[in-house]
Amino acid sequence: MFRNSLIALGQSNTAKAVVTRTPLRGMARRFVPGETVDELVTAIEEANRAGLTATGNYLGESVHDEANARRAGDVYLKLLDRIHERQLLANVSLKFTQLGQDISESFLARNLGRVLERAKETRTFIRFDMEGSDYTQRTLDAFVHLWDEGWRDIGVVLQAYLKRTAGDVAHMNRLGARVRLCKGAYAEPPSVAFQDPREVDRSFVELMKMLLDDGHYPGIATHDEAMVQATLDHAQAQGIAPERFEFQMLHGVRRDLQERLVRDGWRVRVYVPFGEHWYPYLMRRLAERPANMLFLAGSVVQESPLGFLWPGRKRGNHRNG
Ligand code: FDA
Repeated sequence: MFRNSLIALGQSNTAKAVVTRTPLRGMARRFVPGETVDELVTAIEEANRAGLTATGNYLGESVHDEANARRAGDVYLKLLDRIHERQLLANVSLKFTQLGQDISESFLARNLGRVLERAKETRTFIRFDMEGSDYTQRTLDAFVHLWDEGWRDIGVVLQAYLKRTAGDVAHMNRLGARVRLCKGAYAEPPSVAFQDPREVDRSFVELMKMLLDDGHYPGIATHDEAMVQATLDHAQAQGIAPERFEFQMLHGVRRDLQERLVRDGWRVRVYVPFGEHWYPYLMRRLAERPANMLFLAGSVVQESPLGFLWPGRKRGNHRNG
């Protein structure tokens, strides 16, 4: 109920006006460090200095008009140039619906095509985020089509909550494609997705092992300590070197865990979102973990001990940023 209220607030212009004009905007920078490419670059430089690599994401999805989809493409071109000029340890994550997948597949191909060309020129890897299950097959088909055309510095995201994912992991491993594994962030029906968090975790561990054993530099994207530990245990048991995979986490979430893993010699990439659409993203992060409200309210909060005050979020009607 509370989570749904936060998500509803995320869509309210009045609430946005209040948050935008108060010091809360400054505090929200923990999750979304800025609206411009320059602000993103500053955040990535900070992450790099802390031993983290990064992936930059321009916030936005479900774009239905060509002008806005093209504008999103332009922002990615600028971002790729800046990553290259500043020699940042960073790549890019984007969503197909942001670049016009809902307008038409041919529009998407043109808009994405120029981003991929620039990524090739600047030798930057591009990850395609995975959206709701209505898009899974279309996204994977588009990915395989690009792969068959010879594009290589591209990767997909697969979601452990989907029942189909073991087959998709095996397919991507055969291709030699890089996969980011996450639990999955959309509300999905039982016909396609596990509903019980224990089943999602079991699936995550099974898929993580497939990726570590036979995959190609997978990204294990989670803040869940049990999933992180299972990954470390498997890597150590199988003698899988730290250079063969990376952990991925959201900017501002479980920074203690990010630091600890880096200190212990593991690779960690932070997903750093930016852009003017920061407000709904922030509300979704708060919905995932209401304890973050305390942080935003200026309370003195440490990240890990809050678990006993509020249990971790349960799967529900929220969306990934
Ligand atoms: P879980 O939700 O079980 O949380 C475990 C623990 O992590 C919590 O108990 C808490 O301690 C901590 N935690 C989680 N969220 C927190 C928050 N907001 N603030 C503070 N602590 C928090 N999804 C998708 O469908 N498509 C995609 O492309 C992506 N891409 C993606 C990239 C990266 C780098 C990450 C980290 C995640 C995604 N996701 C995603 C989102 C993913 O599917 C999932 O919804 C979230 O990562 C939350 O799941 P966890 O694995 O972190 O575990």
